[in-house]
Amino acid sequence: MDDASMIDLTMSVELADVNATEALGARIGRALRAGDLVALDGPLGSGKTCLVRGIAHGMGIDGALVTSPSFILMQRYGGGSVGLVHMDAWRMRSEHDLGDLGFDELLSSRSDVVAVEWPTKVASALPAARVWITITVTPQDTRIVRVDDQRACGGVRGG
Ligand SMILES: Nc1ncnc2c1ncn2[C@@H]1O[C@H](COP(=O)(O)OP(=O)(O)OP(=O)(O)O)[C@@H](O)[C@H]1O
Ligand SMILES: [Mg+2]
Repeated sequence: MDDASMIDLTMSVELADVNATEALGARIGRALRAGDLVALDGPLGSGKTCLVRGIAHGMGIDGALVTSPSFILMQRYGGGSVGLVHMDAWRMRSEHDLGDLGFDELLSSRSDVVAVEWPTKVASALPAARVWITITVTPQDTRIVRVDDQRACGGVRGG
């Protein structure tokens, strides 16, 4: 285990604009290790992809590459010491779609960080050890971002 594994990311913050969202993502990205899974839960247009862009940046990857993978389900970004796989389950019907993309092999290889938008659509396929992020849009159009660092949880899958 390296130093980054010791940082507990659990927090809840209100973010006023997209720059703050990307900055939080970068902070999270700096603390992630290969094999980590990040679930990004929040309504349409809440800032999930913005957070992933920041995570990429924090991992030393060009965040400009990060766009919504909704239409191709999965993208991998390289250029850092660890790769970032960005998945969007919005169009997935079930966990089977994840399996078809090689999700199990991807996780067990522990070679990349994996970020999943719309994780509730594939909840039963996700490992219990993960960082679960919930984004809420406030009436003022700011974002409340709650980060639950569950990476210390055992290997059993759970929704
Ligand atoms: N803290 C914030 N305050 C206000 N607006 C924000 C904040 N963070 C992000 N946004 C805005 O939210 C919008 C949607 O961002 P993004 O595409 O990342 O959402 P998403 O959750 O990935 O959407 P989808 O569900 O379509 O995948 C962007 O226009 C962005 O500028
Ligand atoms: Mg998105």
